[in-house]
Amino acid sequence: MTRPSANPFTPGFGLTPVILAGRDLAIEEFTAALAGNVPEARAILISGARGTGKTVLLSEFRELALEAGWIDLRLHTSSTSLVEELRGQAIAHLRELDPDSETSKLTMARIASVAAQRDIHERYTGELEPLTVVLDRLARLAEEEGGGVLITLDEVQSVDRAPLHALTQHVQDLIGSGHAVAFLAAGVRTGVDALLDHEGATFLRRAHRIEVGSVDVGTAAEAIRMTVADTTKGITPEAAVLAGEISRGYPYLIQLVGSKAWQNSGDADTIEIEDVRGARDAVVAAMIKNVHGPALRGLSPRKREYLRAMLEDEGPSAVGVIAGRMGIESSQQSGFRQRLIEDDLIRPAGRGHVEYSLPYLADALRHEEREGVGADVEPDTGLTRSHRARRER
Ligand SMILES: Nc1ncnc2c1ncn2[C@@H]1O[C@H](COP(=O)(O)OP(=O)(O)O)[C@@H](O)[C@H]1O
Ligand SMILES: [Mg+2]
Repeated sequence: MTRPSANPFTPGFGLTPVILAGRDLAIEEFTAALAGNVPEARAILISGARGTGKTVLLSEFRELALEAGWIDLRLHTSSTSLVEELRGQAIAHLRELDPDSETSKLTMARIASVAAQRDIHERYTGELEPLTVVLDRLARLAEEEGGGVLITLDEVQSVDRAPLHALTQHVQDLIGSGHAVAFLAAGVRTGVDALLDHEGATFLRRAHRIEVGSVDVGTAAEAIRMTVADTTKGITPEAAVLAGEISRGYPYLIQLVGSKAWQNSGDADTIEIEDVRGARDAVVAAMIKNVHGPALRGLSPRKREYLRAMLEDEGPSAVGVIAGRMGIESSQQSGFRQRLIEDDLIRPAGRGHVEYSLPYLADALRHEEREGVGADVEPDTGLTRSHRARRER
């Protein structure tokens, strides 16, 4: 008997799923961009709402680049100076690769002493050189191997403009001197739009924009079916279809509903429709807790009122009707409408209509109405002795 597989779903931010739904085209284009010689195609800006798979796509692109022999410089938005971080990362790679580096000579000579290596690290000459020179050398080394230099930056909407501008200047210089360079950034759509709305952002504005979002429900069902097919369990076609519907094609929910249905199936070798049906409440609760809760927490009372005024409608809401329900002028209405669109909470849905952007926002609002703003979704009434009590016993 084979050992049962572990739950294959990845309902957590930044976790790469086994099956990527709806990303074929983007991956094909990026693969072509890496191999080709159109520099513009290698500057990419991924944007979308929370939980739509921006970080996952960024990581996938990075893996493709690494497989093609590129060197990856991964920057973190929390660092105070992106340019300094870029330098640090570039130097670290040069230590490994540069034939002129003392370290690589030593490593090649198989001198294993950690102390000796540390001593040499500190004396690496590249550290004193201008960043342009360092990057130029790194790019040349990467190109000799048929690759290039990849620079990635996730959560770009939280970066300050000045350091971002300084960074993109370096990227542009490198591209300008004919190097193979790819630049990948990802961020929530509205934050990214705000960043671009600035004269220093020309480079980013010209970048190839990939807007990620929900996939169609059929694709979601197929992703769930294929994820299970890779394991020792199976899933009935009806169960996969229902799971796809519950996910509404939203990437985070594809993983969440798959994961809960898997749990519900216990030791059984097939996930049945009942396992999926039974997962729905937990899926909605987790969506409220992890996605809508944080977004609604800081919302102004009037914006919240606007969202609640949409609750009565089954489908899209007419903006005139919303204004009527709120008792405000239509000019005021359009102000709230605009700001809620910027918050990624609603989106236009045909002439004079809006709808909620993400699945189950209506459920989150009803939950708030019942339980109060910011209430826990599933209040945990359990009482556990902490490590203190256990120790003092
Ligand atoms: N293309 C995809 N197909 C299926 N699930 C995905 C896909 N992209 C991301 N996911 C899942 O969605 C969730 C959110 O992904 P993440 O990349 O962290 O989103 P974001 O960075 O946009 O907030 C994770 O659980 C991840 O496994
Ligand atoms: Mg992310």
